[in-house]
Amino acid sequence: TILDVVIDNQLDFESYGVCEGTVACSTCHVIFNQEVYDTLEEPLMDEMDMLDLACGLTETSRLGCQVH
Ligand code: FES
Repeated sequence: TILDVVIDNQLDFESYGVCEGTVACSTCHVIFNQEVYDTLEEPLMDEMDMLDLACGLTETSRLGCQVH
């Protein structure tokens, strides 16, 4: 996942992924361009529910811990 990339590379994104991928926060919110978004698998209900709480939600938003 994108969260794995952030952790594995010790990227310093403050507070990114605080729930460690348990879909209990929205701090891993990422916004894709439409072309990339269209290639992703559909989000599951848990992700959709948590995305609703994301700051600056867009039509091409996803949770980075759920995108492979
Ligand atoms: Fe919390 Fe993705 S890391 S929902």
